[in-house]
Amino acid sequence: MARRKLIAGNWKMNGNLAALRELADIQAAAVAHPAVDVAICPPFTLIAPAVAAQPALAIGAQDCHEKVSGAHTGNVSAAMLKEAGAKLVIVGHSERRADQGESDALVQAKASAAVNAGLLAIVCVGETEAQRDAGQAIAIVTGQVRGSVPAGSTAAQLVVAYEPVWAIGTGRTPTVQDVADMHAAIRATLNDLLGAEGPGVRILYGGSVKPDNARELLAVADVDGALVGGASLTAAQFVPIIEGGAAVS
Ligand code: 13P
Repeated sequence: MARRKLIAGNWKMNGNLAALRELADIQAAAVAHPAVDVAICPPFTLIAPAVAAQPALAIGAQDCHEKVSGAHTGNVSAAMLKEAGAKLVIVGHSERRADQGESDALVQAKASAAVNAGLLAIVCVGETEAQRDAGQAIAIVTGQVRGSVPAGSTAAQLVVAYEPVWAIGTGRTPTVQDVADMHAAIRATLNDLLGAEGPGVRILYGGSVKPDNARELLAVADVDGALVGGASLTAAQFVPIIEGGAAVS
């Protein structure tokens, strides 16, 4: 099953209008490496300006509400993101699971809302360090996949991102073997949940992906791309990660 690698940047609560000038070199790298898909997910307020700055670059959001509209002060629906020009949305990031107490069921509802609005949903999963130390990493993560992936999702609608919580923003990464084992377990779970669509769903690795480790991580079986935080904020760091993905595609 050929899966195009996806190199996606998550700017988290970083960036401003001036930072959008980074997108020109990122889009140039996307054009130079057509075998790889590239996306940037800035904060909500920068989505429309980012789309205006680089109309050919896939721009996404970092969250959406599970409902289409209504009395939900401070929230943004998937349809609103779509209208702003977003092509994709991250849901269930561990920072939201921790800070906002998001459950698997809520993440699943958000992913469904995203798909129903015509957005690609990137569903995030990942274990804490305590869970890994207790030997529970694969059980926790495959449980999150079962609880967070909407039934009936297709490979065109869904991406799963494996982001070990302890690897995010720490400069630490799992071993290549641990990444391979986890991605194989996620693949088996997706095959079980989604049948014939399972083999086509892309599984990204995220957590301290940098220019110097991207190629090794992206070469692992069933690693179909990267979800990049800090190193996506500048073209100088993000472009070499795109190049790493292209080199192993
Ligand atoms: P870092 O790449 O900064 O570790 O962040 C990873 C992440 O959380 C992306 O969603």
